[in-house]
Amino acid sequence: MKNELKKANSIREYIINTRRELHKHPEPAFKEKWTHDFIEKQLKNLGYKPKTLNKTGLTADIGKGKNRIALRADMDALPIEEENSLPHKSQNKGYMHACGHDTHMAMLLGAAKLLSEEKNPPPVRFIFQPSEEKIPGGAKGMIEEGALKGISEIYAIHIEPESEVGTLILKSGVMLAAADEMTITIKGKGAHAAEPHKSIDPIYASSLFINQTQSLVSRKADPKSPFVISICTINGGTAFNIIPEEVKMLGTVRTVEKELWQKAPEWIGDILKGLNISSGIDYELIYQRGYPILKNDPKKSESLIKIAKSIFKEINLMESPIMGGEDFAYYLKEVPGTFVFMGGANKKKGIQSKLHTARFNIDENALPLGTALFYSLATK
Ligand code: NI
Repeated sequence: MKNELKKANSIREYIINTRRELHKHPEPAFKEKWTHDFIEKQLKNLGYKPKTLNKTGLTADIGKGKNRIALRADMDALPIEEENSLPHKSQNKGYMHACGHDTHMAMLLGAAKLLSEEKNPPPVRFIFQPSEEKIPGGAKGMIEEGALKGISEIYAIHIEPESEVGTLILKSGVMLAAADEMTITIKGKGAHAAEPHKSIDPIYASSLFINQTQSLVSRKADPKSPFVISICTINGGTAFNIIPEEVKMLGTVRTVEKELWQKAPEWIGDILKGLNISSGIDYELIYQRGYPILKNDPKKSESLIKIAKSIFKEINLMESPIMGGEDFAYYLKEVPGTFVFMGGANKKKGIQSKLHTARFNIDENALPLGTALFYSLATK
């Protein structure tokens, strides 16, 4: 077994207990007060001088010299009621670490502990970032407040509860999509259902709108380029015989192609303009840019893979990007680095789940592997 993994395993209990403590106390985006104080205390106990950034975020430095490397963990939980019956189950009603950010913080604190025990630690910055789940995200604010000042490279690990422990998953270059959000209100004119000619029917117009968004996917995007438009809520009307005044929809637009990303709001707007002419509806489109396309630096990915080979049993190189988004993309726009997924499932033990679900669960044997990877990246 490689030395780094041995080291991480020697503090296995610390990492797991830290994760359980964090799991018990999930807090949503920018409300990570307990979490902030807990991490601050841990870092101080390890001899660090943590700084508070971007409301509830923290950074802490160790070591001296050029080429300081940054390691990042996100801190926020989700508004999900936990359905697991574990001893460390969420104690905050209605909230849960269902995206595994508790594991990210624990793995990073593990690396901070190992490095604090070094005689001559390399220059490293630990970044604990609030609000990854909620646009506009916490990364941007962390960068604006100086989290990347003096940093030459950056890395982050995300747990992935569908793949087995010991698996590392990544893609060199573009790995995750840009993910935008839109709110569409279609305003019509209400009438009795028996007299549709006296209405401007927003429900019928909404159905045309949804159909036409899919024509953007099939006719505007190169068939080889992923382009996702999903309308995920649609609300309007109160009864079976009343044509309502208004319909409201929420949806997301995702792509890894810059040109599609740039043009999407205009195309969506054009469909609505067309419906204004043909159906007489009025509309409001609130198009909110989400996180940018996440692009891993090929050289940093290559060197990470070399390091990871002695820690992980299996390294899966993704063939194509996935349409999820991550605000780690903002850091990668500023400095080179790499974002990876790490398996957390154990099918033999019956542990396998999905991110963002009430039964999200992982095999904690994964955690020392993440700490070993963070530590190896810092000491490479
Ligand atoms: Ni996440």
